[in-house]
Parts: sequence; structure tokens; C-alpha cells
Amino acid sequence: MMADQLAYMTAAAEYGRLSSLPILFEPYVLVRDPELIQQSLAQGHTVMLKDRFTHELGRVLGQGLVTSEGDLWRRQRKLVAHAFIPRRIQTYGDAMVAAAHRSLDDWSDGQEIVIHKAMAELTLDVVGRTLFDADVRGTAREVGHALHVISDFYTEVLEKPIQPPEWWPSPRMFRFRKAVRNVDRIVTGMIEDRRKSGEDRGDLLSALLQAQDEDGGGMSDEQLRDECITLFLAGHETTSIALANTFYLLSKHPEIEARVHEEAAAVLGNRRATSEDYQRLEYTERVIKESMRLYPPVYTIGRQLLEDFELGGYTIKKGVTLLFSQWVTHRRPECFAHPLRFDPDRWLPEPAKAIHKYAYFPFGGGPRICIGNHFAMMEAVLVLATLIRQYRLEILPGQTLTLKPSVTLRAAADLNMRLVSRGSEPARAA
Ligand code: HEM
Repeated sequence: MMADQLAYMTAAAEYGRLSSLPILFEPYVLVRDPELIQQSLAQGHTVMLKDRFTHELGRVLGQGLVTSEGDLWRRQRKLVAHAFIPRRIQTYGDAMVAAAHRSLDDWSDGQEIVIHKAMAELTLDVVGRTLFDADVRGTAREVGHALHVISDFYTEVLEKPIQPPEWWPSPRMFRFRKAVRNVDRIVTGMIEDRRKSGEDRGDLLSALLQAQDEDGGGMSDEQLRDECITLFLAGHETTSIALANTFYLLSKHPEIEARVHEEAAAVLGNRRATSEDYQRLEYTERVIKESMRLYPPVYTIGRQLLEDFELGGYTIKKGVTLLFSQWVTHRRPECFAHPLRFDPDRWLPEPAKAIHKYAYFPFGGGPRICIGNHFAMMEAVLVLATLIRQYRLEILPGQTLTLKPSVTLRAAADLNMRLVSRGSEPARAA
């Protein structure tokens, strides 16, 4: 497990629809079967809570949507949902495309880039603009560094169940506390500025400030901080991983890459993409879906049982943590034909009918499904189409994607890619 978490879970799944696997003396049950995953994730909070590891994230995310439970989560989910209604998401399309064009402005023919870093900067730019209508590119390096420290910290939490308290005077805890303080400072600064100005800038923060429940109550400053940090962190790394891995897969499958480019050229011509184009970029969407099947940015989710739970003919004891692994289920041969093949056309409407709804769950499922799933899909599709219209990204010889499971499924080492210009004119505004 410690040496290779993904291989361990893959092997454990061979034992059956459910397999019991003690991890560091704690009882876990891996649920690999889509039907049983659906039955479990459909449960509300009466039977299960998020797992211990997710609650550990509370040190950074406070009581935001990812980490909160029960009545607090229910109230917050309703309030935050105001910021994610389809009409609002549509309006974020422009910011997504603009961020892709800002990246293009920095790119040139023959240049080499580290793909995961380039996509992380781009999606941070998107989240900064859509969440805070702010240019966080200037602070991107600072935030990027802080996120790395936080993520490395949690990789260790995954490996070592007994953690020192937060005040522990070690260099590691010092780095972690400093990183949290930095992200905190950037986010609270943005909230304070907005409270002062009081203007509606049409971004997520304005929507969160305006959101009120049935009793007319809004969010406290502290709750607002927790939700903003949650959206900031949850909304950027996942999408950047999805995009970077897609470019990697496309570089290994030139015929698929050519089709994505063809679609982008046909749909966009010589103008900038708009959010309406998202519906038209059908093949590009299938490519993103298929890329997240093979390389799901979130590779496992967990739930701890509050009481005994009947599942698949077994009684699973209270206290056990159920694990649902996108990495495992997305690659099971009984769920997908030729599971290791990168085949976007398996998502064409007809063949996709044969795929169980929970054989593919990159965004989770049930009441706690990712609130940003439509946002993320639109972002990934519009950004991919915009970039690919201008450049082909070639992987440098000898490079392969290796993975490092952390909070998300990150690349273990830098992947260098070369930009090859298609020589097309820069796109004009729509
Ligand atoms: C490709 C991109 C993304 C992936 C793969 C992804 C994946 C997930 C998954 C698997 C969960 C469920 C976790 C669980 O059940 O324990 C989740 C929850 C969540 N995601 Fe995402 N996510 C993505 C993008 C985003 C974006 C863009 C945002 C916001 C801007 C976002 C915000 C959230 C929030 C707030 C939750 C918690 C929802 C709740 O519990 O009510 N995510 N995400």
C-alpha cells in the first residue's frame, strides 16, 4: 500500500465486488461494483460521513462544502448552489476562454513547457477570475507553492495515521502552517475588498455574498472564507490535472489529436470560443471524459459508516471506511471493453448506454456530487479547444506519465512538451 497505492487497490479489487483491506490497522472495504457504489453514495448523512482523511483537510478548508457534515453542509450546499446555476456558469465561459488566450500570449513556436505547471497556472487564472474577478496570476507562484506544501503534507497524512498536533514545532509543520496562512491571507484579502466595495462583479464571490436561505440568512465571514478557500483549492488543481493528462494522451494518439483540432477549427473558425460553443464541441468533450476515465484527477473517495450497513449481501460494521476508487472501477474489464484503450468514442450516445451510471464517477455521486462538475467540464472543453486550435503539443522523447497519489492524482515528475504552432492567425473576439 505504501509503495504503490494504486496497484494495491487494483489487486485488492480482484477479490470481488467488495474487498476488505486493512490499511495501517484500520478497517476499510473497497467497493468496486458500480451498483454497490450507487447504493452507497446515494445514502445521505444518516448512515455515513466523509472519511477521516477528508476531515483532516479541515485544517485548511475549515467547514467548507468538502469537509462539513449534516445540517451545516445541507444549508451551505443550498447557498453555494446559487453560484453554480447554469445561467451563471454560462457567464464564466468568457473568463475561461480569456485565460486560455492569456496562456497563448505567452507561448511561441518551438517553446518547451512543463505541461502540469502550465495547466495549473491557467486554471488558477480561471478560478481567480470567476471566483473573485481578480487577477491572481501575479500571485500564482505563491499560491502554487503553498498548494504544493499543503498537498505534500496530506500525502504524508495518508501514509502516517498518527499526526502531531498543528502547533508541533517541526520544520514540516512550520512550512504547512505558513502555506495555510498564505492562502488564507490571499483569500481573506479578496473577501474584505469586496465587502468594502459592495459591488456585484458577476463572479462567484458576488453570488456567495448575495446567497440567502429561506430564513433570509446569509453566510458569516468565517463561513464565506471557508467556502472560498474550498472552491479555490477544489476548483483548480483537479481541472488542471485533467487538462494536462489530456494533452499527454493526445500526444500519444495523434489520430485523436487531429480530430480534436479538426473540430476546434470547424466550430471556432477564426474567432474566440464562447460558452455556447461548449455544446458544439462534442468530440472534445468525449476526449475529456475518456481522459478522466483513464486518469481520474480524484482517484478515491471514502465514507465512514455511522452504523452497520447492508451492502451486496454483507453486513459491514459501523466504523469501517468504505472506499470507492475511480482509478479501480474506471479500469475494470466488466465495466469497460478494452479498459486500457484510450477510446473517446465509447462515449458516443449509443455505446454509452451500455455503461453503468456509476462505472464512471470522476465527480463522485449522490447528494455530495461535485458542485463544480459542469463548470469543470465547460472549462476543460473550452480551454482544450482554444489551445489546440493554435498549437499541437508534442511530448519530448522518452517521457511517460508517472503518477503520485496525493489529495489528487498528480504527476510524479515533470512532463516536458514542445509547442508546435499551427501557423493560424490569432483568434479574433467573437
Ligand atoms: C475535473 C475537475 C474536478 C473533479 C475531477 C472533481 C471531483 C470531485 C469529486 C470526486 C467530489 C466528491 C468528493 C466526495 O464525494 O467525497 C468533488 C466535490 C466537490 N468539488 Fe469537485 N471536482 C472538479 C472540479 C471542481 C470545480 C471546478 C469546483 C469549484 C469551482 C469543485 C468544487 C467541489 C466542491 C465544493 C465539492 C464538495 C461538494 C459537496 O460535498 O457538497 N470541483 N469534486
